[in-house]
Amino acid sequence: LRVGVLFGGPSAEHEVSCASALGVARALTGNGYHVVAIGITRDRELRLVPDETLARILDSSAPRRAIDDRLVVTGPIVELRAGRRSAIALVTAVDGPGAVHAELDVVFPVLHGPFGEDGVVQGLLESLGVPYVGCGILASAVGMDKVAMKRALRAEGVPITPYVWFDAQTYRASEDPEKLVVGLRRPLFVKPARMGSSIGISRVADGDDLTAAVDEALRHDDLVVVEQGVTGRELECGVLGGADPQASAVGEVRVTGGWFDYRQKYLGDDDPMVVPALLPDEVAERIRELSVRAFVAIGGWGLARVDFLYDEAANELYVNELNTMPGFTAHSMYPKVWAAAGVGYREIVDRLVALAFA
Ligand code: DAL
Ligand code: MG
Repeated sequence: LRVGVLFGGPSAEHEVSCASALGVARALTGNGYHVVAIGITRDRELRLVPDETLARILDSSAPRRAIDDRLVVTGPIVELRAGRRSAIALVTAVDGPGAVHAELDVVFPVLHGPFGEDGVVQGLLESLGVPYVGCGILASAVGMDKVAMKRALRAEGVPITPYVWFDAQTYRASEDPEKLVVGLRRPLFVKPARMGSSIGISRVADGDDLTAAVDEALRHDDLVVVEQGVTGRELECGVLGGADPQASAVGEVRVTGGWFDYRQKYLGDDDPMVVPALLPDEVAERIRELSVRAFVAIGGWGLARVDFLYDEAANELYVNELNTMPGFTAHSMYPKVWAAAGVGYREIVDRLVALAFA
């Protein structure tokens, strides 16, 4: 099978995607698939990574940090075209129309954030009639939009923390932004509604300025979510499957400095992940059940990582969010929680490709 690995893209998580894609490409190659690596530039142009370049990168030594090891978006410009047998063809623009370079049997969109993880690319692939890995249009869109996600979770009885949301217009028209968050206890987490990897997120503690946090979130989206923080532990669980999805072991991120921000996620040398998390069996089991329920609540397919906040003192769990294309480097939580459940990286990738055809 020829698997197109889409990576990069216009979102602020471009680099994270390049790192995830390398892990996926390596696993697919190891499993005997023919990988066609297709980079998307920040300007949404498609670039084909030549086979020899890909082979050279795949051979390179293990990285120190997740973000150090990644595919780069380079090479000739290509277009995606609908082709025969539900495959898409890669057509180089320079060679003119019809110069077919590769046919793909299935696409693995290893893209994070808006455009690649929110249903836009999924819609393109649907319209081309190509099987693809992961969530469909609706689940991707709901998973990317924190307001829609919270509504879906709440409707299905999945516990979430108190929150409010507002748009840029409402915020600018309000005389006192504090009035928009009445009823929420500090610390607050102020987030762009549609973003990932903690980009644009601020923690607002007692005495901190709310407006600076909202202004920062508004740099990334015109919709803002403000959540009441939970003092407790950050736990994560993987979901894998289709109609009968399964949950992995539970992992913990041991954060320093309040919460798990972009720097700790990708730029630090310390590995803050503890897998499996040290938890009573009963709590881990509840997390697994809630993970599957959350996945079903958004109509998930293929994979997601479900992130929890655990108030240990009160023994309360809250679903913080779902990520329909979680970080997928060899150092990422998603493969780690599955490894702890006895499912290796290469097996995850194999199952995901099979699910694209199910
Ligand atoms: N958005 C990043 C990639 C994650 O959830 O892992
Ligand atoms: Mg996320």
